[in-house]
Amino acid sequence: MQDPPLRFHIRTYGCQMNERDSEALSCLLEREGYVPAASEDEADILLFNTCSVRDQAERKAVGKVGLMRKRKRAEPDLIVGVIGCMAENQGAALLERLPHVDLVVGTRQIHRLPAMIAGVLAGRRGVVRIGTGEIDFTRLAGHRRSGPSAYVAVMRGCNQFCSYCIVPHVRGREQSRPIDEVVEEVRGLVGQGAKEIVLLGQNITAYGIAEARRAGLYTPQASPFADLLRAVSAVPGVERVRFTSPHPGFMNKAFVEAVTSLPNVCEAFHIPLQSGSDRILRLMRRGYSAAEYRSVVAAIRARCPQAAFSTDVIVGFPTETAADFAATRELMAEIGFDMAYVFKYSPRPGTEAAAMGDDVPEPAKLERNKILLEDLEVRVRERNRRYVGKVCEVLAEGPSKRNPARWSGRSRTNKVCIFEPVRGLAVGDLVEVRVEWVTAHSLFGRILATCPG
Ligand code: 5AD
Ligand code: SF4
Repeated sequence: MQDPPLRFHIRTYGCQMNERDSEALSCLLEREGYVPAASEDEADILLFNTCSVRDQAERKAVGKVGLMRKRKRAEPDLIVGVIGCMAENQGAALLERLPHVDLVVGTRQIHRLPAMIAGVLAGRRGVVRIGTGEIDFTRLAGHRRSGPSAYVAVMRGCNQFCSYCIVPHVRGREQSRPIDEVVEEVRGLVGQGAKEIVLLGQNITAYGIAEARRAGLYTPQASPFADLLRAVSAVPGVERVRFTSPHPGFMNKAFVEAVTSLPNVCEAFHIPLQSGSDRILRLMRRGYSAAEYRSVVAAIRARCPQAAFSTDVIVGFPTETAADFAATRELMAEIGFDMAYVFKYSPRPGTEAAAMGDDVPEPAKLERNKILLEDLEVRVRERNRRYVGKVCEVLAEGPSKRNPARWSGRSRTNKVCIFEPVRGLAVGDLVEVRVEWVTAHSLFGRILATCPG
């Protein structure tokens, strides 16, 4: 190891899985003797953990990595690395396009990063590892937590091949970790003070299915993910369990029964809808109809009326007409989502939909995007009014970014709650907050008591 030790900085784009990988990589690098840089400017090793899911995400990362060219001229020893989905997607082409980049590492090889940095230090630029191998979950298991909530990657990859989506191409096939291994990691995190466990997977509701199929043990009535939820919920000290991203097609009876009966599974469900038009859903190869989506939400609501729902929607998918869009708008109004991510369709080279053209003009995409977000804002403000006068269990996360005199946390339904701190309040405390007023974005109130727990 060099003396003084080299300092690293990781900049993360995209989803929670990338955030979690960056946490794990930091731990891995620290174990190898590197130290975190106080800031990006002070780093000797700069890593960009990138996302490919939309064109905009890739462009943002390429732009940022491009800016490093100048810095590299002034600091020739600076190591610049691109990792994550864009690295996997573009591979060696990135090294050609960005000559100041030293290394590119794909999504299934990130555990080898320390060895590859050593390679660069030994003068071998551009070691690329793409598209092969299985992810080494054990080397990536240790990771630091910030705040009372901890991410646990339980599966990776996706076998769905929705026609617009690059994920199966860059993250590979589904691979799940055994329940025991996940439980062990959860125990460790609780031991470090975690109160809330967020289970992560690109297609998390398919957890364990590929493995069960291979072993000849799979039946459509089973839900290995429900079994996992049960095991994680039973770990002493786990106050809350959340998970993302699911697929409505896998939400069978066993799943609904588990999420609505386990007391620490939070009543907030993110269920990507993508479109409310059956014709578009078919073209997207989502594998469900609007009616089937509706019935999953109804099944959860029937057993858990206070559940909050959020979703992902794509506007401007190839051939989407005003009528298709209207179907999406109506279904969203009917379900009454508490939050939604709305994306303008962008073709991803190599996906099935990329060959369908991109025929919805940009202004129409923008307009549809705007309409859905406006609808949502009005509706969420309305829905949040229901909280006024009610008491919510809030997990205290620390001083609010906007106004550090107040604290912020989240309700079980995933609403941001802002409240006056009381003496002795600590990060990770579960508090009871009486909501006094609301906006479309947050609930505001006062602490009644600290929940025993
Ligand atoms: N264009 C626009 N949005 C996309 N998403 C995935 N692929 C695309 C694409 N090509 C959205 C989906 C998914 C979320 C993570 O990103 O809504 O659920
Ligand atoms: Fe992409 Fe569909 Fe897999 Fe989600 S389920 S990661 S949208 S292919």
